[in-house]
Amino acid sequence: MSTKTQIFFTGATGYIGGAVLLRLLDHPTFASSEITALLRKAEKAPAFESIGVKTVLGSNSDLDLLEKQASQSDIVFTCASSDDVPACEAILRGLKKRHQATGTVPILIHTSTNPPPGVLTDNARGNYAYDTIYDDLNPDQLETLPDTQIHRNVDLMVLAADKEGYARTYIVLPSLTYGLATGKLVDLGIQNPHSILIPMLARISLSRGRGGMIGKGANRWPNVHIDDIGDLYIVLYDAILEGKAGHGREGLYFGENGEHVLKDISIKIAEALNDLGKSSSREPTSLDQSDYDKPENKWLMYAGGNSRCKSNRARSLGWKPKYTTEDMLQSIKGEVQYQVNRKVTPITVQ
Ligand SMILES: NC(=O)c1ccc[n+]([C@@H]2O[C@H](COP(=O)([O-])OP(=O)(O)OC[C@H]3O[C@@H](n4cnc5c(N)ncnc54)[C@H](OP(=O)(O)O)[C@@H]3O)[C@@H](O)[C@H]2O)c1
Repeated sequence: MSTKTQIFFTGATGYIGGAVLLRLLDHPTFASSEITALLRKAEKAPAFESIGVKTVLGSNSDLDLLEKQASQSDIVFTCASSDDVPACEAILRGLKKRHQATGTVPILIHTSTNPPPGVLTDNARGNYAYDTIYDDLNPDQLETLPDTQIHRNVDLMVLAADKEGYARTYIVLPSLTYGLATGKLVDLGIQNPHSILIPMLARISLSRGRGGMIGKGANRWPNVHIDDIGDLYIVLYDAILEGKAGHGREGLYFGENGEHVLKDISIKIAEALNDLGKSSSREPTSLDQSDYDKPENKWLMYAGGNSRCKSNRARSLGWKPKYTTEDMLQSIKGEVQYQVNRKVTPITVQ
């Protein structure tokens, strides 16, 4: 039996998961760890194996597999889904087995979400900003969140495992994460380099030929660059290994470095479309119901909500995010350019 630290990783091919795994590859503990990534696509396995990451084929629906993998792991990173209850239950069952079999307390580093659709979301529909700023150093305040908040059901299961004592749990709640993911995994073609919200708004705006916003665009979101969020997981990981990181109810880590009004993103998209000759106006307008109804825009209805928070806990561990809200706004033109370039040119039938 291997004496290496066993790490099970879900979502390794994803935007956030890949950024975390990339940093684990360069971490001083890599040589003494054995990382196993859950993969849905067999064709990506050889590239993972080539960089020293073991793979297991399956998905979050393979509950027996998740339980087995977790039961063999000292550390589990979940970066695949914030709201998959059966998958989370299976991983927790596995960690409990690990605890019962070894007497050790395995670690779970779970990825949740703070911005819409996330645990801090309201139903503002772009019409206002709420005033509350959630502080992750204040567990009493976080416990005022209704159990019915999106993703909170999974977070509560994770918190209960820590309280019961069979796992030590840490929940990272990234904000709107932006910027192109880069590095070895992207170069190998095994990591998604793109985020969700800005590309979605850019795509929708391009297809309607004008910058779009939800309602008045008055709702506020926090933001964080993909490199900073990758670094946050590693600062947290180091602190966990040193026994310094808060866990359980004191182990929720928002990832933010500034906030914005959604309209500011819509304006930048509108300006970029205009600069690229794809729109005659530099002003965004409210999106129509038809935009919300499209299946590919399934998250759009949530994007008009608010999320306001401070990452004081990660900062207290030494996390120093580099990229600001201004960097986020400056990144938008590139996202729009990408959407313009990838748009398939329609074939004209003569
Ligand atoms: N991007 C953001 O701005 C942001 C912000 C806050 C929180 N989050 C949360 O972070 C998590 C990851 O987001 P992301 O942006 O990294 O998304 P992503 O790029 O789409 O990555 C999702 C990852 O999860 C895997 N996955 C998806 N469904 C799965 C399933 N049923 N079984 C097994 N694996 C599955 C994907 O594998 P495949 O390669 O096979 O598709 C991929 O590795 C999500 O829970 C998201 O809500 C994201």
